[in-house]
Amino acid sequence: MRTRHAAIIGGGAIHTCHVEALRHVPSVVLRAIVDIDGDKGKKLAADYGCQFYQDYREMLLDDVIDVVHICTPHDWHKPMILAALAAGKQVFCEKPMVMSALDVAEIQAAASAAERHVGICYQNRLNPSSLAIADCIAQNTLGNMRAIKAVLTWSRFGDYYTASPWRGSFATEGGSLLINQAIHTLDLMQWFGQGVSRLKGVVDNALHEDEIDTEDSAMATMQFNNGARGLFYASNCHVSDSPLLMELEFERGMLRLTDNELWQICGDERLRLACDASPDGVGKSYWGVGHQQAIGQFYRALDHAASEPYCGINEAAKSLQMVNAIYQSSLLRKWVNIIE
Ligand SMILES: NC(=O)c1ccc[n+]([C@@H]2O[C@H](COP(=O)([O-])OP(=O)(O)OC[C@H]3O[C@@H](n4cnc5c(N)ncnc54)[C@H](O)[C@@H]3O)[C@@H](O)[C@H]2O)c1
Repeated sequence: MRTRHAAIIGGGAIHTCHVEALRHVPSVVLRAIVDIDGDKGKKLAADYGCQFYQDYREMLLDDVIDVVHICTPHDWHKPMILAALAAGKQVFCEKPMVMSALDVAEIQAAASAAERHVGICYQNRLNPSSLAIADCIAQNTLGNMRAIKAVLTWSRFGDYYTASPWRGSFATEGGSLLINQAIHTLDLMQWFGQGVSRLKGVVDNALHEDEIDTEDSAMATMQFNNGARGLFYASNCHVSDSPLLMELEFERGMLRLTDNELWQICGDERLRLACDASPDGVGKSYWGVGHQQAIGQFYRALDHAASEPYCGINEAAKSLQMVNAIYQSSLLRKWVNIIE
């Protein structure tokens, strides 16, 4: 197995999950950290024993670096992915891949032209509960799916937005609750329902009008490609970060994810199928537990592309389309069709 050299752009809240994950991937060296904040970046580079760059374009000139992790504000994702591909790097980018689904074709074309991989971090797909749900669906254990209901209630106030002013702005975050926090939930819903054909949704700013110009609450009703119906509610106005509540109803029973535990319920019978405890102790539990798995999977795919699946451009586009469609539906007050 060849040694790979990684660089991380963006040394903020999420980058520690990448650093820790890389420690568990065989034959990977963290070679550089990039941050526009020079003091922060130099300190991190000293802590990690790696090089520091303030300008990501200089880092891209280092031929030894072959994988670039993008952990920056959302408006930087598109230019950084395109520049990294043009420099011949493999790319692992935090969600969302870009801010608009209209940009996906350009990313796809650039990746194809460069013959490089672009992995997007939807680590919650690798939670034990998610894998157990996917398995149950694949095995048809409970019959046809009838509905998916998801409720995500988290708390984001004051410091969260002032600490990183790119948050809470359409220009730099591309939205807020939907594109940053709830996109993981939308991704899981569409994955379990085999894609969404249409949806009707509403967004609102209920408690953050003085802080941000984006939404803090959203709901949507959707039709999945497998025939099931979806109900989605999310809010950043709660007083704590509650674990995701998700229920999947099937002909012969239900799967319920609650308090990070997945239960199969058939009449009076309850069977615990999975528990999502953090294996590495890094990253808050509401981020999910899968950074190590998602990053490990991506690096294995670099060596064995044909046999190792990972969440790439096409998969990442699906939840982004849902986010864009909910904003559009909220404006138009109409159902919006989603065409893949
Ligand atoms: N997968 C998850 O569960 C998860 C959780 C949290 C955040 N995220 C994602 O991670 C990304 C970063 O979020 P965060 O919360 O860590 O943000 P943050 O504000 O905490 O950190 C961003 C960092 O990027 C740096 N930066 C900004 N512009 C830069 C540039 N042009 N060049 C180099 N560095 C630059 C900032 O100085 C800062 O250190 C976002 O895409 C976010 O959605 C994902």
